[in-house]
Amino acid sequence: MLKKTLLIALALVCPLTALAATDPITARKEVFKQYKETVGPMGKMVKGDMPYNKDEFAKLATRLDTLAQQPWQHFTPGSDKGKTDAKAEIWSKPAEFKQAVDTHKAEVAKLRQVAATGNLDQIRPQFGAVQKTCKACHDSFRSE
Ligand code: HEC
Repeated sequence: MLKKTLLIALALVCPLTALAATDPITARKEVFKQYKETVGPMGKMVKGDMPYNKDEFAKLATRLDTLAQQPWQHFTPGSDKGKTDAKAEIWSKPAEFKQAVDTHKAEVAKLRQVAATGNLDQIRPQFGAVQKTCKACHDSFRSE
């Protein structure tokens, strides 16, 4: 009885953590949501829709570099079924998918370095290069 109560209490306290731990689709979508929140303000600064702040931009670039290590482990076998936009090609063409991941990580790492210089003339094209890797992967491996 006590054990059961404890389990219920646990389930009430951390339903989200439990979900993320058990459901790879939820886990990777959660990371991509953070991607969006990170890339959004960066894009605005690069375009001039928001004042460029060197430290803030560098912080976001570091955060993006951390995020860029995370979604891929959640593309586990069998997680092509369910509420997901992931294409079957992720699992049928693993080498191509890995290539897209590696290219993305490399461009993000470069952006992190360039962001530290505060030189917008270098940041702008490198931000574009990162966005290109998002689009390239979405075009090949995400439906819609
Ligand atoms: C190597 C492949 C790859 C790269 C690179 C990539 N994505 Fe994605 N992204 C995906 C896939 C696959 C999905 C679909 C996930 C699912 O529905 O299970 C996705 C989904 C998303 C989603 C929707 C999440 C949701 O809630 O359904 C957003 C937003 C997103 N990506 C943003 C980005 C941004 C921004 C970048 C670049 C900074 C990026 N992605 C780079 C493969 C990639």
